[in-house]
Amino acid sequence: MPLSLLESRIDELPRECTVVAYCRGPFCTFSADAVRRLRELGFDARRADVSVHSVSMRQKEHWDEVYRNKAPDSVSWYRPRLEQSLAWIEACALSSDAHIVDVGGGASTLVDDLLDRGFERLSVVDLSEEALGHSKARLGDAAQAVQWVVGDATTRLFDEASVDLWHDRAVFHFLTDEARRDAYVEALRASLRPGGFAIIATFGPTGPERCSGLPVTRYASAEIAAVLGRGFELIDQADDEHVTPWGAPQDFAYALLRRV
Ligand SMILES: C[S@@+](CC[C@H](N)C(=O)[O-])C[C@H]1O[C@@H](n2cnc3c(N)ncnc32)[C@H](O)[C@@H]1O
Repeated sequence: MPLSLLESRIDELPRECTVVAYCRGPFCTFSADAVRRLRELGFDARRADVSVHSVSMRQKEHWDEVYRNKAPDSVSWYRPRLEQSLAWIEACALSSDAHIVDVGGGASTLVDDLLDRGFERLSVVDLSEEALGHSKARLGDAAQAVQWVVGDATTRLFDEASVDLWHDRAVFHFLTDEARRDAYVEALRASLRPGGFAIIATFGPTGPERCSGLPVTRYASAEIAAVLGRGFELIDQADDEHVTPWGAPQDFAYALLRRV
């Protein structure tokens, strides 16, 4: 939780264990202020050794390396079309000027299909510039109609309530530590307008425990809604068996949520 909410949400913090405060950036000192205040209030508190920022830089290097060395259609998560996502986006019946954001879009073809359907305000976010480079090259001139954002989904990249639909396939499950998960949910909650939609797809309960060499947290669809917490209503859920380019099945869980 941000430092500004510490006092008002103090009752949510556990008194029986150590509370770890972390900073967003390497030059931020808010976690020191938080630890001081928590100790005054009788908590056992300490600062995290690393900032969210330094985790993000390491992850960026990892993903750039992946996309530099592998063709987009040879990675385990490759799928020629994201059918489940497209079906739900159509069901949301958004107008063509709706702002749709594909978070951790990588080199996915979702953006191509949304352009084909006439959507005019598309943003694709990814930690990896290499990944976005693949999509831009594939789209050619059409890429100019898209806003490409090299950034971390755990930070605020969009204005308050400026997004109509937030799409995430296989990104949220990489957030295995609570601090980054909380930061992502906070960014999602702030960016999505009331009544807007979120599609989140993760590895399901029997899916792999790692992806691209990184650990993941697996969820059932209903658990995705539960972990997002207040402010979201689950309106549909689906299980999907994704098959990797080399024929291995992977259990995926999809959740369609509305911001309330
Ligand atoms: C498994 S791939 C999925 C790509 C795409 N969504 C798809 O379905 O084909 C995960 C993608 O998320 C990106 N990514 C991982 N962590 C991220 C983060 N914190 N913020 C933004 N992008 C991230 C990676 O660079 C990678 O492109």
